[in-house]
Amino acid sequence: MRITINQIRDMKQKGEKITMLTAYDYTTAKIVDQVGIPLILVGDSLGMVVLGYESTIPVTMEDMLHHTKAVVRGTKQTMVVGDMPFMTYHISVDDALKNAARFIQEAGAQAIKLEGGVTVAERVRRIVECGIPVMGHIGLTPQSIHQFGGFKVQGRTPEAAIKMLKDAQALEEAGAFAIVLETVPTPLATLITQKIGIPTIGIGAGIGCDGQVQVINDILGSYTDFVPKHAKQYTKLADIMSSAITEYYNEVKDGSFPSAKQSFSMDESILAELK
Ligand code: KIV
Repeated sequence: MRITINQIRDMKQKGEKITMLTAYDYTTAKIVDQVGIPLILVGDSLGMVVLGYESTIPVTMEDMLHHTKAVVRGTKQTMVVGDMPFMTYHISVDDALKNAARFIQEAGAQAIKLEGGVTVAERVRRIVECGIPVMGHIGLTPQSIHQFGGFKVQGRTPEAAIKMLKDAQALEEAGAFAIVLETVPTPLATLITQKIGIPTIGIGAGIGCDGQVQVINDILGSYTDFVPKHAKQYTKLADIMSSAITEYYNEVKDGSFPSAKQSFSMDESILAELK
């Protein structure tokens, strides 16, 4: 049985920290699932860490569905949350419903995430009414990066802080089961967490949130173009990969790979007939 939104909500009530991690492929998702992480986000961050774009903006529904399917195939217990890409829920409620449904029906995800607060609350309500669990995302929402003018901490002025609290409350009221708070000062994220009944999952939002989410490539140290301040590298996978690939390269060049161990033999008499 996969983790349900009720179990995620209960974790807040019990004061149990919630862990979420991104994954974009079968092999990685399988490891994350086996560790016991309850939530996998197939984030549109794949635009940067998998597809090599400069932002999440070029990511399409087809990109997201392709990777969400792979993650679903790799998991048994974790709840898979599909991230709705830029402009797939803004134009109309119909669009938002159709695209949200594709994550559930075609890709096999259990929930979707979308960015925005008060302005998307009606969309959230309609999607939830269709039976699709929705995770909100406020603070630094990367799809609005041009509007923000860069990756900046959000909610530092009184107006911005009040707006963020209102956004969180609007999402809760609309039926979201959890909210991502991205790049928000710790005291504000803590206050929002205390004021709402659904879990907050922070990324660069400090220790006061109900849970934490990270981009897997950041914590593994495999994406080196940019390391955000909020990310802790638990290993340096890029270095480990580079040295393994170098060793392979050298062994092919000097003829020590493949050895007999990686090779296949055959009956000498059959070979003799060919000569
Ligand atoms: O796309 C993503 O990975 C995200 C997380 C940073 C929350 O939205």
